[in-house]
Amino acid sequence: MFFALVLLSLGQLGTALPGGIPVVPIKGVQGPVDFPLLGIGTWQYNNTVAKTSRVVWQPLPLRVHDPQFRAGFQQNMAVVVAELPVKQRRSVVFAEEPSSPPPSSILSEQARLQRMMQRHEMSVSATRQQNLETIVPFARDCQKRLDSLHGWESHGIHLKQQEATEAMKVVEQFVLATSNSQFPVTVLDGVLHEDMCRAFIDVHEKVGFARPPSLLEHLVETSMEDFEDGEEEDLLVKLAYEQAKNTSELVQIESSDFADYLWEKLEHYLPERHQNDRGFATGVYEKCGVIPVFRFMRYQKGQGFKAHRDPSRSYVENPVKSSASTHGEPGIYKSFFTIALYLNDPAVFEGGKLNFVKVQVDQSGSKEYESQASVCPAVGRCALFAHDELHEGGGVQSGTKYMCQCDVLYKWVDTVISAFSLGYRHVDTAAIYQNQKGVGAALAEMKMERDEFFVTSKIPGGLNASATAAAADACLEELGLKFVDLMLIHFPADFGKNGSAKERQTEWTALENWAKSGKARAIGVSHYCRRQLDDVLKVATVPVAVNQVQYHVGMGTAPTTSTDDRDYMRAKGVLYQSFSPLCGPCNPPDNTELLNGTLITGIGARYNKTGPQVALRWLVQQGIPVIPKSHVAAHQKENADIFDFNLQAQDMAILTAAKRPAVGGGPSPQDSGDCGILEEEEKVMVV
Ligand SMILES: NC(=O)c1ccc[n+]([C@@H]2O[C@H](COP(=O)([O-])OP(=O)(O)OC[C@H]3O[C@@H](n4cnc5c(N)ncnc54)[C@H](OP(=O)(O)O)[C@@H]3O)[C@@H](O)[C@H]2O)c1
Repeated sequence: MFFALVLLSLGQLGTALPGGIPVVPIKGVQGPVDFPLLGIGTWQYNNTVAKTSRVVWQPLPLRVHDPQFRAGFQQNMAVVVAELPVKQRRSVVFAEEPSSPPPSSILSEQARLQRMMQRHEMSVSATRQQNLETIVPFARDCQKRLDSLHGWESHGIHLKQQEATEAMKVVEQFVLATSNSQFPVTVLDGVLHEDMCRAFIDVHEKVGFARPPSLLEHLVETSMEDFEDGEEEDLLVKLAYEQAKNTSELVQIESSDFADYLWEKLEHYLPERHQNDRGFATGVYEKCGVIPVFRFMRYQKGQGFKAHRDPSRSYVENPVKSSASTHGEPGIYKSFFTIALYLNDPAVFEGGKLNFVKVQVDQSGSKEYESQASVCPAVGRCALFAHDELHEGGGVQSGTKYMCQCDVLYKWVDTVISAFSLGYRHVDTAAIYQNQKGVGAALAEMKMERDEFFVTSKIPGGLNASATAAAADACLEELGLKFVDLMLIHFPADFGKNGSAKERQTEWTALENWAKSGKARAIGVSHYCRRQLDDVLKVATVPVAVNQVQYHVGMGTAPTTSTDDRDYMRAKGVLYQSFSPLCGPCNPPDNTELLNGTLITGIGARYNKTGPQVALRWLVQQGIPVIPKSHVAAHQKENADIFDFNLQAQDMAILTAAKRPAVGGGPSPQDSGDCGILEEEEKVMVV
C-alpha cells in the first residue's frame, strides 16, 4: 500500500512529502481506509480542462426560490466548462442564459483563461503567417539545397549511430546575478564530435549561408495597442532580433534526428519543470524535447549579435517528432531555454564570445551593456541558458565563427500533474466542477498504480435512487476509473435548495448500494449540518466516512447550528474535512486574509513559514484534512510543506479564536451558508 498509516497526535503529524503524505483513518465500506491529510482542490479548475479544450460558460438550470440565497448559490454554481478538443472547435449553444450574471471573481478567472488561450493561438497563428512570408520560404530553400547535396548523412553526419565523442563534461555552471529563472548557465564540452562539427560547416558552406528576409516590416505593422502585459515585451524581443542586431548569415534546417541526438545528451541538464510568469500563457510547464529547427549561423568580420533576450517559440501542437505518441498533440507549447552549439576552433577567429550582459544607465540616461560573464566558443561546446538572460554574441573581429542555435520545448502542465509531481496523491473533484475528464486524463497520464492515488468525487444532492446511481456512474466514466476512493453527496438538498429528510435518506441508501458493488471505497456527505447528518445516520448501513464543509481560520468558534460542528461529527465517527481552507471563495477582503493577512503572516514569521502554511497547519494539526487549490506550482509546494512544524498551543488558540475571515458563500456568517436549508425545509414541511 502506498499510504502508510501515520499515527496522529495533536501536533505530531508524520512528515512525508514526496510520496508519503500523512493520513487519517476513515470508515470505509469494507473497513478502514487511509485518507490523505492533503489533497489538491479543483473547483473552477480551469487549467486541467483547458489543456485540450475551449472554455465556455455553461449556465445551469436553476431552481432557486429564495432570492437571499441566490447570490451565494450563484457563486457556487458558476462553473467553467470546456469540452471541445482544440481540433474540433465549434460554437456551443446553451438552452438557457444564466439567470443572473456570474460573480466577477469567477468571470475574471474565466475571462483570463479564455483570453490566454485565444492570445496564445492568435500569437501562434500571427507568427505562422509572418513566417510563411519570410523564414519559411528561406528555410525551404535551404532544405532543398541540402537535399540536392544528398543530405547530412552523405557528408558524414550520422546522427542515429551515436558518434564516439569524448566523454561529455560540464565545463562550468553559474547563475547570473540578474537571472529571473535561477537556471544556471551550463557550459558542456564534447556535445558534438569534432568530425561532426567539421562536416556541418563543410556541408552548410555548400548549401550557402545567406541573410534571411526581415520580419521587421511585418512586426511594425502589427498594432501594439491591444497587447497585454508581457506580450508587448515578446514583440519587442522579436523586433530587437530584426533591428540589425543579428548580422550573421544563416542556413536553417529541420531535423528530428538531430533534435533527438541533442535531447539524449542534454535532457539531464534541463529543469524538469519551468514556472512561466511572463506573457499570457503563465503557469507550470514541463520539458518535452528539442524543437527540430536548427539555425546554423556564420559570423564573419564585423558580424555579431547585439544584446538581446531569445524569443520564446510557441506551438499549439507538439512539434517534437521523436515520440510518436505525443507528436501533434494539441496543447500550449513554448520554448524557454536556448541551446548554443559552437562548431569551430576559436583560434581561427577573433572575438565572438557569448557575453551575458546587464544594462547600465548612465547619468545622461543612455544605456550601456556591461558584461557579467562570458563563454568562449570551442569545438563541440554547448551553452545552455534561459531565453530570458540578456546576452550578446560578441562581434567577430577576424576570421569566421560557426555555430548552431536551437530551443528546448516545454508543455503547459495540467494542475493535477503539477501537484502530484510535488508529492500530492489526493485530488478532490465533483460532477459539477465539470472537470472530471481532465482530472481523469491527468491521472491516466501519470500512469500510477491505482493504490498510489486517492480520488474524491461528489454527486449532486437531491437525487432519487436511479439518478444517484446514474450520477455516480457518470463520475467514474468521466474520470476513467473503476472506483473512487471517496464519493460524497455534495449538498444536503438539490442545488436549488429543495430537499427533505426523506430525500436525503433515499439518496444515501442508493449511494450505499452503488458503493457496495465496489465502486467507492468510502462514502460521505458535504455541507451537512448536525440534523442533516442525523437524517442519514438513521438509515445508514455503511459508515458516513466524511463530512466535507467549509472550515478555515476565522470560523473556529462558530455556533453549533453551523456545519462546523466538529465535535458532533467526531462523536458520530464522521471525519470532518475542510474545504476552502484558504477562504478562496470568500468575499473581498476576506479572500486574501489567509494568504497575506497580518494574523497568519505574523504567526508564520515566528516559524519561518508563510501565512497560507499557518492557515493550513492550523487545520491539519487538528487532524482535519485540507484540499487547498492552486494552479501555481510554487503555491502547491508551499501548501504541501506543512508537515514539518508544530504550531504552539497559544498560537493554535489565537487562530481558533480568530473571527476573521468569516465564512464565505452563504447568507449568514452564523450558519456556514448551508444550515439555512433547515429553515427552508421546515417551511416546506409546514406547507
Ligand atoms: N464540497 C464543496 O461544496 C466545496 C466547495 C468549495 C470548495 N471545495 C473544494 O475545496 C477546494 C479548495 O477550496 P477553494 O478552491 O474554494 O479555495 P481555497 O483552496 O481556500 O483557495 C484557493 C485560492 O487560494 C490561492 N492560493 C492557494 N495557495 C496559495 C498560496 N500558497 N499562496 C497564495 N495564494 C494561494 C489560489 O490561487 P493560486 O491558484 O493563484 O495559487 C486560489 O485563488 C476546492 O478547489 C474544491 O476542491 C468543495
